[in-house]
Amino acid sequence: MREYPPPEAIRTLYTPAAIAARVGELAHAIANDYAGRSPILVAILKGSFVFASDLARALPLPLRIEFLGVRSYGSGTVSTGAVQITQDLTHPIENQDILIVEDIVDTGLTLAYILGLIQARGARSVRVCALLDKPSRRRVEVPVDYVGFSVGDAFVVGYGLDCAEQYRNLPALCELLQVPDSP
Ligand code: PRP
Repeated sequence: MREYPPPEAIRTLYTPAAIAARVGELAHAIANDYAGRSPILVAILKGSFVFASDLARALPLPLRIEFLGVRSYGSGTVSTGAVQITQDLTHPIENQDILIVEDIVDTGLTLAYILGLIQARGARSVRVCALLDKPSRRRVEVPVDYVGFSVGDAFVVGYGLDCAEQYRNLPALCELLQVPDSP
């Protein structure tokens, strides 16, 4: 059977062990900052589903979890700037402490839209935890309170992140070496 993924297609950036260690550090910082409070983790789908599940389990806090489905790239590899809600929250968030959990902040366009939405719904506070930050690609300024890893311009897949819906199930964070052209 052919190896998946083909070793020539990807390069490992962060191993599962390195990710787990960093998630533990993030959880420690978040737990300190939210001591005595019960935040709602808003996991942004699809990309953050793996990170959010690990982060939530590492947080010794009473918390609720909500999912917000957002799509900005379609099946291509370049941001369109257009943001579409594919799945909404199931409960009101008025007067709640919201922790947005993102897999990656790239141009910042998606996060800027989400922050506007959360604020418009009357949240008491909003913070952002992103596993990956790509500051060199930013097009709008957005606050990112907790960052797992800051990365360059590599196309990152695995641990929830995709390329045309592939590779989300890789346990490591990997650079995709052969990026297909956008449609
Ligand atoms: C990715 C990622 C962020 C967004 C970041 O989502 O999960 O939500 O892009 O990019 P930006 O900062 O340039 O806006 P994507 O639209 O690819 O959907 P997915 O999470 O379902 O993979």
